[in-house]
Parts: sequence; C-alpha cells; structure tokens
Amino acid sequence: MCGIVGYTGPREAGPVLLDGLRRLEYRGYDSAGIALVTESGELFVEKRAGKVAVLTEALGDKPPRAGIGLGHTRWATHGRPSDLNAHPHTDCTGRITVVHNGIVENFRELRDELVAGGHTLKSETDTEVVAHLVEDAYKGDLADAVRAALGRLEGAYALVVMHRDEPERLVGARLNAPLIVGVGEGESFLASDAAAIVAYTKRVVFLDDGDVADLTPGMFTITDRAGTVVDRPIDIIPWSAEAAEKGGYAHFMLKEIHEQPDALTAAMTGRLRGESVCLEELDPIRERLAGIDRVEMIACGTAYYASLVGAALFQEWLGIPARSTVASEFRYSPPPIDSRTLVVAVSQSGETADTIAAARLAGDRGAVVVAVTNTVGSAITRESHASVFLQAGPEVAVAATKTFVTQVATLVMLAADVAHQFKRLSAEKERELVAALRRLPKQAERTIELAGPIEEIAARYADAAGFMYIGRSFGYPAALEGALKIKEISYLHAEGYAAGELKHGPISLLDADVPLVAVATRSAVYDKLISNLMEGKARDARVLAVATEGDTQIERLATDVCWVPDTLEPLSTILAVIPLQLFAYYVAVKRGRDVDQPRNLAKSVTVE
Ligand code: AGP
Repeated sequence: MCGIVGYTGPREAGPVLLDGLRRLEYRGYDSAGIALVTESGELFVEKRAGKVAVLTEALGDKPPRAGIGLGHTRWATHGRPSDLNAHPHTDCTGRITVVHNGIVENFRELRDELVAGGHTLKSETDTEVVAHLVEDAYKGDLADAVRAALGRLEGAYALVVMHRDEPERLVGARLNAPLIVGVGEGESFLASDAAAIVAYTKRVVFLDDGDVADLTPGMFTITDRAGTVVDRPIDIIPWSAEAAEKGGYAHFMLKEIHEQPDALTAAMTGRLRGESVCLEELDPIRERLAGIDRVEMIACGTAYYASLVGAALFQEWLGIPARSTVASEFRYSPPPIDSRTLVVAVSQSGETADTIAAARLAGDRGAVVVAVTNTVGSAITRESHASVFLQAGPEVAVAATKTFVTQVATLVMLAADVAHQFKRLSAEKERELVAALRRLPKQAERTIELAGPIEEIAARYADAAGFMYIGRSFGYPAALEGALKIKEISYLHAEGYAAGELKHGPISLLDADVPLVAVATRSAVYDKLISNLMEGKARDARVLAVATEGDTQIERLATDVCWVPDTLEPLSTILAVIPLQLFAYYVAVKRGRDVDQPRNLAKSVTVE
C-alpha cells in the first residue's frame, strides 16, 4: 500500500517522478505528492488529495527543474485523505522531506515527545514524526541521521528521505514494506516496485528488512541500521515497461483478462517435462517434503480462493489432511504445526502483511514453507524455504485476474509434483493432467472468444440489486472469485456460496432483482448443482450459468449461459472464472465505475 519513488541523476526529476507515480498508482490513490530540490537549491513540495492526475494538473505539467526528488501515492491509514496529510512531509526547518509506506505504530508517543521538544507537526499522519526525528538527529550526514531515527520507530516502513543541503543524495530504508534500488547509468532510483522505474533501468537491488540505502547519481551503498555495509546482489527485471502499459485496451483489467492464455503458458514454461510435472524450485527441499504429513495453505482474498483448489488436490492426491485458511485468521488460531507440516503461502504481490506474518509464524514453528507468488524478491520469498513464481508478468489492475488463473495452475502443478514425489499420483493420471494443462492456454483463448456476448448480457444485469454466486467442488472457488470481482469493481453486493448452502439461509435473498450466477460446468456434482439452480429459478431469480460447451440441458434452464470448453475438473476453476471476470468488468463499465482503481482498495495490502 502506498507507492514510493525517488530519483537522483541527470534527468529532469519531476517528470520521472510523475511517470513513476502513475505506474505505482495501483498501490494506493487517495492522494499524491512530490518534493524536489530545485536547480536554485530550494525545496519544492506539491501534494494533493486525489489521484496523480490531480497532482499533475496542480503542477501544470511543469514541475520546477531539478535533478533530485521523491514522490508518493497514498492509501490512507493514519489521517484522512487531504492535501495536508498527503506525502511528502517536511520537518520544522523545511529542509528535510520524507515519504513513507507502512505504519509507525508508536507514532503517538513520538509525536507527544516531539511536540514537548518544541517541534510543530502539521498533519494527522504517523509519517510526519519521521521527518522531525531525522531533523533532531541530523549532524551533517543524512544517512547517519536516518539510521538514528530508525532506531526510534516501531512498526513497518519503506522510507525515502531527502535533505535540501545534500542535493544529490537520497536515503531509503525498509522494514516489512517493499523498497528497491534502481541502478542506472549515472543515475539512481528508489521505488516500491519495479513498475515505477523499469522504463529507465532493469537493474535492481531488492532491499532486505533492516537495510538502509544511500544513493547518489549512479552510486549506492547499503548498510544495516548500525551502519555496517552489507552486500546485496543486483537482479534484472525480466519484463519490459510495455508489459505494464494498457496496450490499446480501455483498462488494465481487460488487458490482463486477455493476457490469461499467455500467462498460463508462461506459468507452465519449464514445468511440464514429457508426461510429468516438475518444479525444480522444490529440489532443495525434497528431503523435507518427503516427511510431510499435512498441508496448510495460507492466503488472502483472491489468492485464498485459488488456494482452495490447491488444498483440495493435496488432500485428494497425497491422501494427507490439507486445508486452506485466511491468513489474517490463521495467526490467531494456528493449527498444530511442526517440521512435518508443509505450509504454502500464496500471494500475488508477496507483500500482503497478513500472509507474511502467518508464513513467519509457521516458519518459526518449524514448518517447511513454500511461497507461491508473482513477485521475485518480495518479502514472502524471504519467509519461505522455496519459492514458486507465477511468471504471469506484471498485474496492474487492482482486481486480480491473470494472477488468479496462474495461481490455480501453479498450485495444481505444485500438488502434482509433491504427489509424484510421494508416488501417490499414477503415471496415467499424471499423463492425463499434463495433457490437460498443455491444452489450457488454447482453451482459455477459446473461452474468451466464447464470451463474445458477455458485454450485452452484463448490460442486462447491471441494474441488479445484488448477486448470488454458487458453485460446488472446483466450481466453488470460481463462484467466490466471481462474486469478489463484482464487489470490488462494480460496488454491488454479491455473495459467493457453496451451492449446497443456498437453502440454509441465503436463498431468502433471491428474487427478480437478485440474480443467481451458477458455475455449472461438467463435473461429478453437476446434477446437484442443477438442483440448486432450479431452486433459485423457482424464486424468480434470473439465472446466469457458466456451463461446458455441448451441455444441451442448461440452455433450457438458465436465463443466459456463458460457455467454456471441457477440461479436467481441477482445471475447470480456471476456465469458469474467465467469463465471470468479463461479466464483472462489463457490469462495472456499464455502471461507470473506476475499473482499474476501485474506491477504498489498493493492489497490495501491506498493513494488517
Ligand atoms: C483481488 O482482486 C484483490 N485485489 C485482493 O483480494 C487480493 O487478492 C488480496 O489482497 C491478496 O493479495 P496478494 O495476492 O497480493 O497477497
């Protein structure tokens, strides 16, 4: 949550920062601001409530000429979104500026202490205390002052600090919030993630917790908080700036839905060998995997729904208990965990605070932890003994789409790989699975083609009072995810329910204004699902069904049908969700919503 960018070098810093903020806006968009040390040595700050576009307009597209600066786009935690609470924040002298992602948990004590010491704090934010702590500690060396101030902070932070009197220097620090250094030719960057700077450099350093990065143009030093130099490798970002552009689509979400066939291909690249699944990333932990006797999956939101598929397959294929728990709850009632427990932490961003904390807890109790994430170098990878990457490319829309389908595909491969190691997956079953996985990208393409009429269908449902989504077995996670998509981007209430539970309460919500969306693809539970669909129909609800091509029965029963190709049941979640993503997208467009940046949300949730 919150996006940070910093630049020092020969370019005009203002446009670099604004460009970076636009690319980071999916991290939070309540307010935005930049600070520059101008060519004449003045500190210039402009910040506005609202999106980066509001800030850009306020700047008249002409920020003062400067070779150094920092910027921020905010998802508010402490202090409502306003011009005053927007970052950057400054100290009493007006020389020091700070941008921050995270929460300073002891800010009230620090604030009282600073005020008692004669400081004037202007905003309601936790961040402002940092500027004043650095002010107190400053003795002519910004990095020393930042390190001293960090010693006072409790909580989480990614920080960038700039001092007017050191006009080529930026100091960044991280603890439980992401921050990377961009290493350019004669220029240096700091950013929350690579999207902000990949247009300028692909060479990055992923900072570790406790690191302090001291940057001048083209040079950087990383120390710990005590000032001891630490070595960090330079990594290369594997995707281009264009990958994070809309590429002719009206919204990132629509582009990312259409990228799903390619994303699935990428997720499987190098992982299907002949007739077997093989995740090399697991090789270093094979011995430990051989001893597991239960599987716990932890995740939030969309990633949690994907993890339900993984848990079902671990249980079915390995024959050991496996389940999935929402990460924020896992921590408060952790199951018995020991060295024989495999914990799979699923997180697109790899930054979700709840998932990271749950993974840490599991690791501390001796579990073998595997991360499934789209983000190389993310915090979750540091809490894990092995990381399996989605390889889906950057996802910019706040509503996850291609990362859901690649999470499911990756978890299917993960469960199959471990089941293979356990010798619990017959060669025939594995052959069948691999063949179905190989067909999947083409089938995802076909699903998008088959969804041609979905815009028209969505228009007919866009005035609904709410929606009920139902599914059974592998259709259930698709129903949950479909309902979440509608909620997130159209702001309509939607419930995702296990179809068999409908009659135990929520059926009372159904009427002519509350349609039923039924995931009714071919499966062992198809007939039961049809019974639930009929229960909804009998209550006057319109029924939108997702069904398998060639199903002649469903056409007679449902009001509208979205078709998907036939596949193995565990992979049906992937195909079934695609029309539901498109349905949510077009309902939201019809209702005039901000599809890519829906209200109150942020792409990565780095607070608990
Ligand atoms: C998905 O559309 C949501 N934006 C949200 O539920 C998300 O999946 C959740 O916050 C978890 O994020 P993560 O995968 O980055 O951990």
